[in-house]
Amino acid sequence: MRKGKFITFEGCEGVGKSTQIRALKAYLEEKGIDHIVTREPGGSAIAEKIRDIILSSENEGMDYACEALLYAAARAQHLKDMVIPALERGAIVICDRFVDSTFAYQGIARDLGEEFVDQLNRLSTKGIMPDITIFLDFPPQLSFKRKGGADREDRLESQDMEFHAKVYEGYKILARQEPQRFVSIDASGSKNETREKVLAALKSRGILE
Ligand SMILES: Nc1ncnc2c1ncn2[C@@H]1O[C@H](COP(=O)(O)OP(=O)(O)O)[C@@H](O)[C@H]1O
Ligand SMILES: [Mg+2]
Repeated sequence: MRKGKFITFEGCEGVGKSTQIRALKAYLEEKGIDHIVTREPGGSAIAEKIRDIILSSENEGMDYACEALLYAAARAQHLKDMVIPALERGAIVICDRFVDSTFAYQGIARDLGEEFVDQLNRLSTKGIMPDITIFLDFPPQLSFKRKGGADREDRLESQDMEFHAKVYEGYKILARQEPQRFVSIDASGSKNETREKVLAALKSRGILE
């Protein structure tokens, strides 16, 4: 039985997911609310091994479908080992990336297609979907600048930026398709402003009191 709440964070690289997850964790700790913070891919011993295969520089020749299937394999294990037990005991589960990353990265940016990803996600999640997904909405062109300054931006190849722009578009598709679950939060302000918006969204959806 699922008594807890499942919150996922999504968004392009450098948009502030880790920052906001830390802030939410601090809030839950202060309130004494049972929670875990985990991430995709990984979060458990077997899933972390799969993560290492995906991220290893030795595996640069990896086929995109192989990559997507490995992510799905890691997800199934991560759900079993981490997410489901915590939800069953009534905890809040905060996960850094989940199925929507597969949609945006593999489905749209890598062009494997929505149907491929939908099937994969159905098989790997066994129907366990987040109660709410916080999408930190900030275009990659701007977040890369914010993260590393002008110098960092110069070193980024335009090809990279094109890829991240496609990921962002993928997220925008989800925001249109699933407005109930997939909540867009304007992440252009300060860390604190974004934190307030995240808390307000969680409260208005009944995830937090
Ligand atoms: N609202 C913000 N304004 C300015 N800098 C931010 C903001 N949120 C995060 N950062 C900074 O941007 C960088 C990337 O943030 P991070 O939380 O690691 O992003 P992500 O986990 O999405 O990749 C960090 O250096 C962080 O301190
Ligand atoms: Mg992060």
